[in-house]
Amino acid sequence: MSFRLQPTPVARPNRCQLFGPGSNTKLHPKMATSAADVINLDLEDSVSPSDKDTARANVIEAINTIDWGTKTLSVRINGLDTPYWYRDVVDVLEQAGERLDIIMIPKVGCAADVYAVDALVTAIEAAKGRTKPIGFEVIIESAAGIAHVEEIAASSPRLQAMSLGAADFAASMGMQTTGIGGTQDNYYMLHGDTRHYSDPWHWAQTAIVAACRTHGVLPVDGPFGDFSDDEGYRAQARRSATLGMVGKWAIHPKQIALANEVFTPSDAAVTEARDILAAMEEAKARGEGATVYKGRLVDIASIKQAEVIVRQSEMIAGH
Ligand code: COA
Ligand code: MG
Repeated sequence: MSFRLQPTPVARPNRCQLFGPGSNTKLHPKMATSAADVINLDLEDSVSPSDKDTARANVIEAINTIDWGTKTLSVRINGLDTPYWYRDVVDVLEQAGERLDIIMIPKVGCAADVYAVDALVTAIEAAKGRTKPIGFEVIIESAAGIAHVEEIAASSPRLQAMSLGAADFAASMGMQTTGIGGTQDNYYMLHGDTRHYSDPWHWAQTAIVAACRTHGVLPVDGPFGDFSDDEGYRAQARRSATLGMVGKWAIHPKQIALANEVFTPSDAAVTEARDILAAMEEAKARGEGATVYKGRLVDIASIKQAEVIVRQSEMIAGH
């Protein structure tokens, strides 16, 4: 047990992050009226190289003119290995107003990547007199990203959230799959003649959650490519929620309700968590640190588990 307390991440809902290409202006007003907690206007991989300048101008226009309500508004810039990223940061921060909340940095491989963007953002904020500090979110989607995940989680006080990007991650790791997230046909254990499908994303997700929780950052599951497969999305999201992630991306509007459903603690889960807290209060009054709830052990650690669910539910309800 460390004497250092685990920092608390920013208290805002992040159940669903809806993406839309910066080049597709038709989608931007629809994104604003969606039920997603976070909006990611994309300048990176959903925008073709010939459209980068136009997409940047569109995104600035969308930030400045659309009513985004209480949503967290984020722009995904291009990666640091491209010629586009510095212009993304400079133009967006110089020309977009204070409504912008976050810059998302893709393909982060080490803490110095975040430091570089932080230095540029800090200089522009000072030069332009921006009063609201821009937050960061990063995508872990490379072998280097996952190998350096903890230093990345600790890289900047601006950092609010970290997502797993399954497609680029798979490519960088040399994984033999073209699917974006979810079950993989060739990843199974054989028991007798029965195949038991295992989760190839599990290790990366758990590494991200541990790094995030150590440094007060929100862990988020990235995209699920097959937007015709609701049950596949739900199954992936439920695994992520069980592992401690707080939300998941939507790359199509029909995925928003699925993410909100999975990452909002159910009434039954909240009631049970409150019952456990009440049972532990009664135990404490009797001078006991452990008691029995519905035939199973609950103890002081159970209070912390129950509080995770109650806090998450109260934070979502209060926002
Ligand atoms: N945000 C808001 N609305 C969206 C949307 C999005 N990301 N994607 C589609 N819609 C809208 C469509 O405009 C359409 O609206 P309408 O009923 O008013 O005409 C409706 O949802 C149904 O769309 P559909 O026809 O099923 O999809 P599409 O063929 O127009 O677009 C994609 C499919 C995948 C190209 C599109 O959803 C998309 O661009 N997604 C985001 C991709 C992205 O940003 N990737 C980067 C992160 S991995
Ligand atoms: Mg990617």
